[in-house]
Amino acid sequence: MSTVSFPALEPLIIEAAQAPGHFAEFGVFRGGTFLKMLPLARRFGKRCVAVDSFCGMGEPGPMDGGEYPAGKFNVGGYDSLLDEIIRLGCVDVVDIHAGFVPDVLDQVIVQQFAFAHVDLDHYQPTVDTLLWLWPRVSPAGIICVHDYFEGEPGLASAAVRDVAEQLGQAFDVVSSREGVTVGVSSHAVFRKDGE
Ligand SMILES: C[S@@+](CC[C@H](N)C(=O)[O-])C[C@H]1O[C@@H](n2cnc3c(N)ncnc32)[C@H](O)[C@@H]1O
Repeated sequence: MSTVSFPALEPLIIEAAQAPGHFAEFGVFRGGTFLKMLPLARRFGKRCVAVDSFCGMGEPGPMDGGEYPAGKFNVGGYDSLLDEIIRLGCVDVVDIHAGFVPDVLDQVIVQQFAFAHVDLDHYQPTVDTLLWLWPRVSPAGIICVHDYFEGEPGLASAAVRDVAEQLGQAFDVVSSREGVTVGVSSHAVFRKDGE
């Protein structure tokens, strides 16, 4: 996992905020990115949806290798995240859904998204989330998938390529440091055509 560069993400969130619908992150962990999205959600009148097992990764599949074993990133529930959300005075704009993708997706109340950050690392939950999200993203909305690397044969990178092919949808690659890909935040960016 590389650390998410919020300065790279922020202009994309602001761009997408012009679209109807709300914000979401799938794969929240301790809230390093999610908590920074909250002031933007407040500013643009959006809800901010958090989806995570909050007990870490599920079982890796055949496309995942051994880098992310089951239970990695276990934060023991979302109590600490909720404390931070309360401290920031943003509890009224947040929906938290705890559980594993794909089952947890049935709990999500918001059904229209302007911006979503997908940071689940494993291949299958990334595919499931992207296919669930795409019809729910508004025209001019954006999905950013963290940890996209051109040469990576599995994990989220393979999920991005497979979903892009299935949807017939192009994506851009945004890195926070030009020409450097190791240990640096890198995103695949799907933009839905405006109407
Ligand atoms: C790399 S961390 C996310 C980091 C976070 N976005 C940040 O900016 O700090 C990956 C997260 O995905 C969650 N996750 C992975 N697979 C999942 C699945 N199938 N369902 C729900 N959550 C999952 C893990 O619990 C973990 O919190």
